[in-house]
Amino acid sequence: MPKLYIETVGCQMNMLDSELVVASLRRQGYELVGTPREADTILFNTCSVRQHAEDKIYSALGRLKHAKRTHPEKIIGVLGCMAQKDQRLIFDRAPYVDLVVGPGQLHQIPQILQEIAAGGEKRMEVSLDRTDGSRSQVERSFESYDPLRDEEMRPSPYQAFVRIMIGCDKFCTYCIVPSVRGPEQSRPAALIELEVRKLADEGCREITLLGQTVNSYRHAADGRTTRLSDLIERLHAIDGIDRIKFVTNYPKDMTDDLLQAVRDLPKCSHYLHVPCQSGSNAVLRRMKRGYSVEEYREMLGRIRETVPDAAVTSDWIVGFCGETDHDFQATAELLREGRFKNSFIFKYSPRPGTKADERLPDDVPEQVKRERNHVLLEMQNQISEQDNQVFLGREVTVLVEGPSKTSRKRASEGDRMGVTAGDHAHGEALQLTGRTNCDRIAVFDGNARLIGRFIPVMVYDANAFTLFTSVVTRHVGPEVYSLV
Ligand code: SAH
Ligand code: SF4
Ligand code: F3S
Repeated sequence: MPKLYIETVGCQMNMLDSELVVASLRRQGYELVGTPREADTILFNTCSVRQHAEDKIYSALGRLKHAKRTHPEKIIGVLGCMAQKDQRLIFDRAPYVDLVVGPGQLHQIPQILQEIAAGGEKRMEVSLDRTDGSRSQVERSFESYDPLRDEEMRPSPYQAFVRIMIGCDKFCTYCIVPSVRGPEQSRPAALIELEVRKLADEGCREITLLGQTVNSYRHAADGRTTRLSDLIERLHAIDGIDRIKFVTNYPKDMTDDLLQAVRDLPKCSHYLHVPCQSGSNAVLRRMKRGYSVEEYREMLGRIRETVPDAAVTSDWIVGFCGETDHDFQATAELLREGRFKNSFIFKYSPRPGTKADERLPDDVPEQVKRERNHVLLEMQNQISEQDNQVFLGREVTVLVEGPSKTSRKRASEGDRMGVTAGDHAHGEALQLTGRTNCDRIAVFDGNARLIGRFIPVMVYDANAFTLFTSVVTRHVGPEVYSLV
């Protein structure tokens, strides 16, 4: 049985793509292993969004140079966004790579691997560049093959990502995604519904709908256009699915019908990731984000009004071309005022091929980027901690996802000491982790049998990242929650 090792970096899109690649290879008899050393086939599913993500992969490839020399039969592949972006350059930098496959060509992998294993040539399969053909030709060159599934590659058997769109047409000037993921295309609602029904049948309870700008979803069929709010309503009716999330939202498309759906449909998570990127109009204009700070504020106001308990999160880029101290202060002000549950903060990283890289100098020194990053992080951590403190003494419902990092660590230490992980299944209390309806992480002690269930927990402590809770013991009909 051929052994496969796969390493994934990047966003949820990539995690889902890896799940699908693994599923297609298992069908061919591949077995998944945990280290490159044990593997016959080593695949990297890559990301190009920042230089750092690419550097990581090139150094991982560098570490395989020796292994390939001593085991030339090992097959090494580079998949995903960096494959689409760098193409042949990957063979130049790492000549021992056997295959380079872009995100729109992943369905070809089983066939390509078979041919290479049979002594075939190196292969490169990528989609068309955005200027290499008509819109529909380029669209067709990005294929999505979503219904394939592999439970083991999911975040947990009870949670799944569901892609509702591919690509992006927003062309923010700093961003590589539109060129590596191709044109924005919404998948047919009927297909998505089928996929979610199948997931529900397999026992999945929570779905996260994915799109680079998920709330721009629009699909026309039979003379009717389905918006994201309509799609959610349709998926909401599926028995077995109890929680629905969607990421990432584009501020301009945060329409009232969507906010009302989140408010009115009880399975909707009250969690909205709506990246703002900057609090300065001058910077937003240079980023070509398509909205002003005033419009973003207005949108935040509508969220707070319609779904008052929604947890809103954002992404920010510091040190974008021409960002002055004054611009940065405006970002800090908006971050403070917005009271985000969490913020992902990135230092601007110029991406070859983007408008910003071509036209605007990367003129904020690294040291200043680092300082600004640090200031925002500190500020956000304080806000996150204060916001989590509000939950002290409150009861919240969580979907139990699995053992926490701490208890996984303890379990592997236990393994070394001769205690088997299987012992946990026999009633021993574990530290478990779960998420609330507004996507806050909670940890609590409990039995592994709670995994995959929605349970009430009581918050007794909180920091910026985690709610520390205990399972609430209560009889609910025939079900007893206290399994601790
Ligand atoms: N489609 C999503 C996310 C895209 S990438 C959206 O539009 O929000 C995730 C985040 O990476 C972005 O929100 C942005 O904050 C950051 N990012 C993208 N390109 C970047 C670059 N060149 N340098 C630094 N951060 C970047
Ligand atoms: Fe990139 Fe902008 Fe598209 Fe997001 S919306 S993927 S930041 S181009
Ligand atoms: Fe990275 Fe590609 Fe996602 S560039 S962020 S893996 S779409």
